[in-house]
Amino acid sequence: MTPSLPGPPSNRGCTPLNDGEMSRARWQTRRCQEEDGEAAAPVSPWQLMNTGRPPKEAFEIPPLGEETLLYEKGTDISESQFWSVIDSWIKSPEHILKSIWKAEGVNIDDLPEEERERATHFKPRLEDLPFNEESHSASSCDGPDVVQRYEDARGEGCDAWLPSLQPIVKTRVWAQLFQSGILRAKLEVEKECSNAEKFSTAEQNAETLDSSSEPVRHTLRRLHRKDVIAAPYLDEWCTIFKDARKVWFTPVLPDPSNWKRPIMSYLPYNYPKSLRYSFQFLPAGAPGVEAKLRMFANLFDIRSVIFMESTAARLLDKLQKWGCCIKNGVTSYEKRVQLDVLVDQQEFRLEYQRMKNLYKHWAKDWPERTDPQKFVFEETGIAAYLVALWKSKKFESATSDYEKKISFVDLGCGNGFLTHVLTMEGFEGKGIDKQQRKIWDLYGEETRSRLVIEDIDPETCCYPGVDWVIGNHSDELTPWLPSIARRCGPTTRYFVIPCCFWDFQGKFNRRVPQESRYTTYLKFVEKCGTEEGFQVLSDTLRIPSTKNVAHVGCRPLDDGGTRKSVD
Ligand SMILES: C[S@@+](CC[C@H](N)C(=O)[O-])C[C@H]1O[C@@H](n2cnc3c(N)ncnc32)[C@H](O)[C@@H]1O
Repeated sequence: MTPSLPGPPSNRGCTPLNDGEMSRARWQTRRCQEEDGEAAAPVSPWQLMNTGRPPKEAFEIPPLGEETLLYEKGTDISESQFWSVIDSWIKSPEHILKSIWKAEGVNIDDLPEEERERATHFKPRLEDLPFNEESHSASSCDGPDVVQRYEDARGEGCDAWLPSLQPIVKTRVWAQLFQSGILRAKLEVEKECSNAEKFSTAEQNAETLDSSSEPVRHTLRRLHRKDVIAAPYLDEWCTIFKDARKVWFTPVLPDPSNWKRPIMSYLPYNYPKSLRYSFQFLPAGAPGVEAKLRMFANLFDIRSVIFMESTAARLLDKLQKWGCCIKNGVTSYEKRVQLDVLVDQQEFRLEYQRMKNLYKHWAKDWPERTDPQKFVFEETGIAAYLVALWKSKKFESATSDYEKKISFVDLGCGNGFLTHVLTMEGFEGKGIDKQQRKIWDLYGEETRSRLVIEDIDPETCCYPGVDWVIGNHSDELTPWLPSIARRCGPTTRYFVIPCCFWDFQGKFNRRVPQESRYTTYLKFVEKCGTEEGFQVLSDTLRIPSTKNVAHVGCRPLDDGGTRKSVD
């Protein structure tokens, strides 16, 4: 039998705050400010961070301190749903933390030495387990026995579970861990107890935390940031205490000696500003006592509790909503499609970030009646995707002249913004549309000279030798893209984002039972490509549009063969 973990201790672990206690915390905040003296520190260090005069403390990692209960709310989700949400949260935090691009599991042994040391330094230690004082002292296991078990653990490759602990010193804690079954159960899982683990693959996804027998699990994950101003990623330990129904998220903070800015700026935007944050599920008790969700944090500064309270409320709301969406262990928040699979995701992310900063001003200077936010960011995203695609070896210019600029023709270019961005990025191309737009005259001569008014005849048009034929939501031209690309030359490829449903004669009206019209249309456009001799690859783009699937029509040479051998 595995006894359940006792509640957190009174002098370490959590400091629960109910409504009354919350107001005391507020009072404490005010008192802290008063004690500091208005003139000396009227606002907290992390608030000062953005004022341009951060205090010295803002450049130091404060001690972990006590865990503070930030928020608690009643819930009707089950423990099983809670673990499913946490499982998804660990794998896909981008659904919650919008500043995160994606997360990936990291094996600590694969990290460069310096990063490995840093990560180990921040890894939650066994003495941080949510035990109370009694459990530390009540031991029926004697020390040598525990030491022997520790040695066995090391022999099993499990020393990652017992980091830097001096066996003699920590004997009692260990004894309790073994006694309560926490380590024993863990040791039985032999080598699986590495100090970090790769995220599960699609097949393994079927096994949720709920069905996992591991009582304590550490996972090191890397959060890739969307904004890369301070650092491109943040490593974070996710530690699950199955019996305590609790999960800790502990960021691996960079070495302060390398900081150029206060510590807070190394945490992504809207990441809980704490040294550690955690969630807990409290099951329903006696009749009428409902289950609860709780969020805790080890705050940088107790004064931030006021602001963290609202973050916690928001996150617990998400957790609750997410939990309600779970059926059979799978949440509908789970990513169902893989995005950006044909490009190097890091490359795309950096390109998109860079381009957004360069071209976002157009959202303010937009003379068209269409929504500038949508168009500017969507077309910029597509341009960034194309650049990442063209940079990848597989899709380099298909000509043997490596120095030659990649050339393109954007058919049905509309406002011409994609043509403008690609031109500014140094590509050689044209945008063609049967209808001129006001904005064309604002782009400047370099782009303007490449925008052409022409009613394209898709049955005969040809752009000899062009590298890429682009059809971005190109309406009636969409199904014609493959045949136009074939006509242009043996190395021409195409990139099409199908949108409105058109076939060769007019509106595309085919319907297939049990299939969305969009899916049927995508299959039709794909067939248009394969019938013209292209290998059609498909990708889902990270653009603000519901029609975000792109097809890339490739030549056989793209399929693994190197340019040289073909030449
Ligand atoms: C839905 S709009 C898309 C515009 C642009 N690509 C975008 O994503 O913002 C389709 C465009 O294709 C153009 N178009 C459709 N058939 C055309 C043809 N035969 N010749 C030239 N342009 C055409 C239309 O004028 C329209 O601007």
